[in-house]
Amino acid sequence: MSLGTVCHAASGPGNSSVNERLAREREFHDERFGGGDERPADAFYAVSTEAEAHYRRAVREIVATGIKALEYGCGAGSEAFVLSELGANVTAIDISPVALERAKLTASTRGIAVSTLVMDAERLAFADHSFDLVAGSGILHHLELGSAIDEVVRVLRPTGRAVFIEPLGHNPVINLYRRLTPGQRTHDEHPLMDEDLDLLRRRFDRVEMSYFVLSALAAFPLRNRAAFESTLARLQGLDRHLFYRVARLRKYAWMLVLELSGPRF
Ligand SMILES: C[S@@+](CC[C@H](N)C(=O)[O-])C[C@H]1O[C@@H](n2cnc3c(N)ncnc32)[C@H](O)[C@@H]1O
Repeated sequence: MSLGTVCHAASGPGNSSVNERLAREREFHDERFGGGDERPADAFYAVSTEAEAHYRRAVREIVATGIKALEYGCGAGSEAFVLSELGANVTAIDISPVALERAKLTASTRGIAVSTLVMDAERLAFADHSFDLVAGSGILHHLELGSAIDEVVRVLRPTGRAVFIEPLGHNPVINLYRRLTPGQRTHDEHPLMDEDLDLLRRRFDRVEMSYFVLSALAAFPLRNRAAFESTLARLQGLDRHLFYRVARLRKYAWMLVLELSGPRF
């Protein structure tokens, strides 16, 4: 495993607010990944397992031996290890050196080759067309989306694909919870809105969106009860039906998996 350390600060007039945002993100995630990184809000991931499984499946379908993959905003290395075990040549970047130290430690303990780099996702230090796959979990909504997608498109090969799992920002109940618990997330993060999805549609020829978790949120109070798994499975089935039949409900999902191909350079 190799470890490089690169950190790109924005320079030039008007960039101090960008650098302040990056510093806030780095500080928050250094603290999160340096200590117990379980936040109370993390308990809600108990109801998003179907979304995460869909994301992992979509990523793994793309991976083939020798492809070049970038885990974008990897934290402690969410998908990087599996991608590497499946034969990909993996680079993982994040703004948080503490998160990357954890990724590096896991990789060396497990004997997995992953190149980890401290890097701003909005200013990647990679040549154009470097990657066959860019994958990210919970990263786009921490970034200025226009700059981030410019970079994702730039570093993808023409045949390259990108897969992301991200929270959506339209559900009023979820937004109320977010407003009541500001300390559990960064000041600048912004779950994706319709206009963000429009931006993605403009930058890729094919955009597949899969929506998860609406009624499934109601299973959350049962998460420590025996009835949880069966209740969740029923509600996930209901959500699949609702999202398929009633398009206007999709934006109120909590989680979105994005499968993007045909980057428009
Ligand atoms: C919600 S965490 C997700 C981490 C990891 N993908 C996971 O699923 O566990 C968001 C990550 O984005 C990283 N991040 C935030 N802003 C960034 C930026 N400008 N460039 C690179 N990484 C950034 C944070 O340090 C953090 O690790």
